[in-house]
Amino acid sequence: MSQIQNHVKNSSHILVLGMGGTIAGLASNPDSNPLQYEAGQVEISALLAQIQSAIPGEIGLVSEQLANINSCNMSEPLLTLLGRAVKDALDNSRVEGIVITHGTDTIEETGLFLQLVCGRFAQNLGKRVVLTGAMLPANASNADGLKNLLDAIHWAASPLDNSPGGIYAVMGGRVCMAMDLAKRHTTALNAPIQSSPSSPVGLINPSWLSGVKAAEIAWHEDLSIPDGDVWPWVEILTSHTGARSETINLWLESKVQGLVLAGTGMGSLHEQWLEPLSKASKQGVAIVRASRPGAGQVLPNIPEKDFAGCIAAGKFSAPKARIALQLALYAEKQAKSAGKSLTWQDFFARIAVLPEIG
Ligand code: SIN
Repeated sequence: MSQIQNHVKNSSHILVLGMGGTIAGLASNPDSNPLQYEAGQVEISALLAQIQSAIPGEIGLVSEQLANINSCNMSEPLLTLLGRAVKDALDNSRVEGIVITHGTDTIEETGLFLQLVCGRFAQNLGKRVVLTGAMLPANASNADGLKNLLDAIHWAASPLDNSPGGIYAVMGGRVCMAMDLAKRHTTALNAPIQSSPSSPVGLINPSWLSGVKAAEIAWHEDLSIPDGDVWPWVEILTSHTGARSETINLWLESKVQGLVLAGTGMGSLHEQWLEPLSKASKQGVAIVRASRPGAGQVLPNIPEKDFAGCIAAGKFSAPKARIALQLALYAEKQAKSAGKSLTWQDFFARIAVLPEIG
């Protein structure tokens, strides 16, 4: 850490955590082919140096490189590292807000993870944690990363008058709650930020800010962050034309603790899967039914259709349901050791806020 950073660290500042991604990516031929690039090449301190002159003098910045990866390689130990760094920073009275640069490919999983483990804490403290990334590498002529980083820093540092502390995401001039991130386009510049009922996506300008009040949800207690090596093993399986029972039977021979099923339509599953899944559930494998379309909700099935123990993913996509299930399984284990009889289904339902069927 430089002397300047050391000095700033002892006064009020925004902490910028670098995780890598396209925002830190470099293309070998940026002019002819900006989409052929290596993610996670540029240090966060080098990105910040490029925007320093555009940052108002009163905003002190401290950076820390936690990783520099392509987020397709994101791992549970890195989530643990990031979650703990964010919690420590929230707890530090000198840190006014936190910005995280992250690859967009798995930013939605990290966004939900942070919401579940420190969303309440951030809200109570009135501090903003802001995820951002980019769709074009840092050396592309029309690179979007520096503008996104600047916007994210402004959002983390701006007064809370109109919207609360919490876990946000900023990209392409827009902001949303990080738990509502959903990358649904391979190349569009605002790919990870889509409209969502629980946090209306808005442009970063004062007239929009009041809209975020809707996001001031009464968030429940934060869940614990598992140590890097004790995350429950949960896989995602996709139902499709010609799905085979063998797929499920193979998993039954493993030590997998949970399965998230990306079902068709509203979460329907191929009939070939039903018997082995029911067996899996009886063996103690936690099962969550999500869906392939990537938008909309999965409602609980009528009881005679859903096998016992299976729970619907509600508004969560399969990747987000997987993070939620991992944390719910870990919470169940912790509750058990504290002598409480709460199950992973109790925790999952609390997280996913499942709608009731009347
Ligand atoms: C990544 O997720 O690290 C690469 C893709 C991106 O950041 O858009």
